[in-house]
Amino acid sequence: MKITVVNGPNLNMLGKRESGFYGTFTLADLEKKLSDHVGARAELNFFQANAEGDIITFLQKLTADDRLILNAASLTHTSIGIRDALSATQVPFVEVHISNVYAREEFRHQSYLSAIARGVIVGLGAEGYLAAADYFLRG
Ligand code: DQA
Repeated sequence: MKITVVNGPNLNMLGKRESGFYGTFTLADLEKKLSDHVGARAELNFFQANAEGDIITFLQKLTADDRLILNAASLTHTSIGIRDALSATQVPFVEVHISNVYAREEFRHQSYLSAIARGVIVGLGAEGYLAAADYFLRG
C-alpha cells in the first residue's frame, strides 16, 4: 500500500511555530516518527507546500487507489479548490490537524474538506498522523 502525506502552509515551520498549539517537533521529526511507525507496512510519500496551487496540482495526480493523510492547514478553512481536487480524484483521505481547532478561533471550526473525508482527527499532535495511517493499514 502507498500512503501519501500532504502538509499545507506553514507546516514547514513546525518546531519554530506556536509551540503551545503545535509542540516542538519539526516536520522532519513528524515524518520520521510516522515512517518508524509504519515501517515496512506501507510505502510513504511526503509532500509539503505553502502555495494552494502547488497542493492542488499535487493532489490532481492522486487516484482512488491512493490513500491520503491531509493536513491542509489554513487552506482547510478557505479552499474550495482543494475540496474540488479531492472530489475529482476520489482519493480516500483522513483530514488531520495537530491542534484542536475546535478549541481555537471560530474561523478554524469551518472545514471545506471534512464532509468528503473518511474521517477527521484533531488535537492529538503528531499522533493524529499515526492514527490516520493505522486506519488505512487496518482497512
Ligand atoms: C492546523 C490548524 C489550522 O487552523 C492552522 O491554520 C494550521 C495548522 C493544525 O494542524 O492544527 O496551520 O491545520
